Amino acid sequence: MTPADFALFARVLKERSGLVVTEEKCYLIDSRLEPVARKHGHASVALLAAALRGGRDAALTRDIVEAMTTNESMFFRDTRPFQQFRSIVLPALLEARAATRQLRIWSAACAAGQEPYSLAMMLAEESARLAGWQVALVASDISGEMVARALTGSYSEFEVQRGLPLKYLVKYFEPDSGRWQLKPEILRMVQFRTVNLLEDLATLGRFDAIFCRNVLLYFDAATKTALLDRLALMLPRDGFLFLGGAETMLGVSDRFSSVADERGLYRPMARAAVAAK
Ligand SMILES: C[S@@+](CC[C@H](N)C(=O)[O-])C[C@H]1O[C@@H](n2cnc3c(N)ncnc32)[C@H](O)[C@@H]1O
Repeated sequence: MTPADFALFARVLKERSGLVVTEEKCYLIDSRLEPVARKHGHASVALLAAALRGGRDAALTRDIVEAMTTNESMFFRDTRPFQQFRSIVLPALLEARAATRQLRIWSAACAAGQEPYSLAMMLAEESARLAGWQVALVASDISGEMVARALTGSYSEFEVQRGLPLKYLVKYFEPDSGRWQLKPEILRMVQFRTVNLLEDLATLGRFDAIFCRNVLLYFDAATKTALLDRLALMLPRDGFLFLGGAETMLGVSDRFSSVADERGLYRPMARAAVAAK
């Protein structure tokens, strides 16, 4: 790939999705964009770059961004955030929202749905405590392909073998032609949307807890800071934010404070405290 083509793809990706690709990942652009080139009738990635230069084609740009996203995920990924959700976040929110009995939770980069469905299964396990509560579980991703996959609730043998406790597999899935199908009671607990975290998030409303895990790590520092500032505005003072295991708030945003001894779990700072810093 020529340096000019690399620079073009890198710029489009950064502008449209926040994803940063460095030159050593050039091979990745080549291999992932080859099918996109073919789909759009171009014989090579170089001709795809020429088409991109040639004018605005929303479908082409969308496919390029989708092809470059990394959608790696698994059920109950890293275990810890889900334990924190069950033992810290849920009890705190059940107490704080006792008057309204309403909860809103957002999985902000949900890939093929493993994260929100893990939360849905946990909430289903808490159905006795949640009787009479209205719980909205919203899940979104920039990739329409991923959202479409998540909506099916169909997973391969390999996918259900990674992280999903056997008792949940037995209770909430059904075998289906060599795959595993989530039962409707779990599927209907999650509302999926296609959402680009760089764009306007206001229409999503406010949440009590946000899972924004393993997506910040693909962004540069300025994009991370800007997104975290916006997420802080979507949470009440007593809300919670979960980041991924390799992600940190340190030196990135002063809008959150970490929950003591709970890695990856944060609460928004009071506005006055932020202003005084
Ligand atoms: C590595 S997966 C993480 C999935 C899940 N949160 C987890 O921790 O397992 C990252 C996801 O972020 C999505 N993503 C990347 N850039 C995005 C953006 N600008 N807006 C929304 N989602 C984005 C990708 O499509 C991908 O599905």
